[in-house]
Amino acid sequence: ARVEFLDYDVLTDRGWSLADDDLFEKAAESGLDGDAYGEVVVEPRTNLLKAAEDAGHSWPFACRGGACANCAVAVVEGDVKMPSNHILSEEMLEQGVRLSCISLPVTDDLQVVYNIEHLPGLDELRL
Ligand code: FES
Repeated sequence: ARVEFLDYDVLTDRGWSLADDDLFEKAAESGLDGDAYGEVVVEPRTNLLKAAEDAGHSWPFACRGGACANCAVAVVEGDVKMPSNHILSEEMLEQGVRLSCISLPVTDDLQVVYNIEHLPGLDELRL
């Protein structure tokens, strides 16, 4: 799968929102550095976090086992599957929040915002 990613800090800095229809178009045109915005290829049976790390990126994580939410990302386009989920609420799942350390792409193309620790509601989830 091909994953276009964007750092949530950019949204905060520029006053953009996860709900912006043209979020990734704006990101693509903004001359962001390769850590804040770019693309990684995720091989089959590889989780998002691992794919990002293999491509040289440092995304937040802690447990690597689906138990802390430090690695949470917001999937804006496309979808992933998680073998289990014990910490994300139904509401967060509906918003597209997923745990990158256990998320496997199920669509060919995805758009993902990582580093969403400051997203409302996520702070109190982290252990
Ligand atoms: Fe803890 Fe992913 S790193 S849930």
